Amino acid sequence: MKIITTIKEMHEYSADCRRNGKSIGFVPTMGALHEGHLSLIRASDAENDITIVSIFVNPTQFGANEDLDKYPRTLDRDTELSAESGADVIFAPTAAEMYGANYATYINVESLTQGLCGKSRPTHFRGVTTVVAKLFNIVSPRRAYFGQKDAQQLAVISKMVADLNMSVEIIPCPIVRELDGLAMSSRNMYLTPAEREQATILYEALTAAQILITAGETDAAIIKEKIASILNTKNLATIDYVEIVDFATFHEIETIKPPTLIALAVKFGNTRLIDNLIINEVQKP
Ligand code: PAF
Repeated sequence: MKIITTIKEMHEYSADCRRNGKSIGFVPTMGALHEGHLSLIRASDAENDITIVSIFVNPTQFGANEDLDKYPRTLDRDTELSAESGADVIFAPTAAEMYGANYATYINVESLTQGLCGKSRPTHFRGVTTVVAKLFNIVSPRRAYFGQKDAQQLAVISKMVADLNMSVEIIPCPIVRELDGLAMSSRNMYLTPAEREQATILYEALTAAQILITAGETDAAIIKEKIASILNTKNLATIDYVEIVDFATFHEIETIKPPTLIALAVKFGNTRLIDNLIINEVQKP
């Protein structure tokens, strides 16, 4: 496994790959890898000659009172897991390498970023798109792999790629869940045992929503109410949002009309978990 920490070396490596006709698949991460990330690495390994995984806890996507300092940093283990899953290169720059002195350029996708996580974390997506654009410029991948758990992030990055004519194909990959349904996330490790036990409620609420929709319910208010009432059965859960939006525009909708995104953010203590369900079809009466 090759570990690269400078932008100059990464540029040279990627140029060499292209000169030799090798396709690069890219998996951007903030480390603390879990099975969700590893599924992205495997998908990239299956479709590309070379798989590059970036491990960079990106300061610009964390708000002032968020968990930047305590975000888990486990580079040795991440390197091992990436190698086992088929990665060829780890790109692990420092923050100073990525954002030199007097850094001043940011990318802001103006639609899609106002609601859901953008409402609770107003500077988050600007940080994500900025770092992902920089990483795309540094790595020059043919394909890049993102998990659907971060459905809004995936939509925002796809929009940036389309609007800025970037020549990378964005590949969405399914949510990977624990056996009890909790969507995998690096932040799950912050949960206390009691919070972890209650955290399965996100999946239970989404499953109940799916059952309602399959039975023919299309009224978004009724579905939202059902989800909220299920989430509220857990005393350690505080709802940040329950939203039902058009999956193309991220505008709130009153009637389910595929493609629809049902998205949740729920706090357990200081740990904020997100999960979602994408409705691609509704039951015909
Ligand atoms: O999803 C993440 O882990 C991060 O937002 C990303 C895409 C690696 C950018 O820092």
